[in-house]
Amino acid sequence: MPNRAIVYISEASEDFTTGKLESLMADAARFNRGAGVTGVLLFDGQRFLQYMEGPPDGLEVAYSRVTGASSHGGIIELAHGRVGQRRLPFWPMRCLHTEPDLLRDIARADWTSFILRAADGHEDATAMERLLAVVEPYARAA
Ligand SMILES: Cc1cc2nc3c(=O)[nH]c(=O)nc-3n(C[C@H](O)[C@H](O)[C@H](O)COP(=O)(O)O)c2cc1C
Repeated sequence: MPNRAIVYISEASEDFTTGKLESLMADAARFNRGAGVTGVLLFDGQRFLQYMEGPPDGLEVAYSRVTGASSHGGIIELAHGRVGQRRLPFWPMRCLHTEPDLLRDIARADWTSFILRAADGHEDATAMERLLAVVEPYARAA
């Protein structure tokens, strides 16, 4: 079965705290490890952008845990679909703190088919390229 991926943005609930972030990360890491799900979570202090990938069954359950979580709301799915090779195999769960502008730019970029390279003649980096550029320094240290 080919891997699938989902990316969404959401907004932290008003009473969200860093303590809450740590416990949800630990909980998510435990589940994702068992389900074969990897990816990254960007957090700017208010908004989340999460990219998750893995086998269809595991990913579906992990994402249903995401959509059922009361720690955030206003979930907007930016893309979902098949991916050949994993793009972000490094961590079952990892949160990177980012500037709001950067998170917004990645959210607004082109997520079509999770493509890695902009088509010839297109100068704009794809969303996946932008996300990988953020992740790369941490991934190299992983
Ligand atoms: C931003 C965010 C990302 C999450 N990512 C995952 C995930 O990757 N895998 C997973 O199994 N659960 C994930 N969850 C669910 C949490 O691990 C946890 O089960 C949930 O937040 C607890 O419910 P509560 O938010 O209602 O307290 C996520 C939740 C949030 C808010």
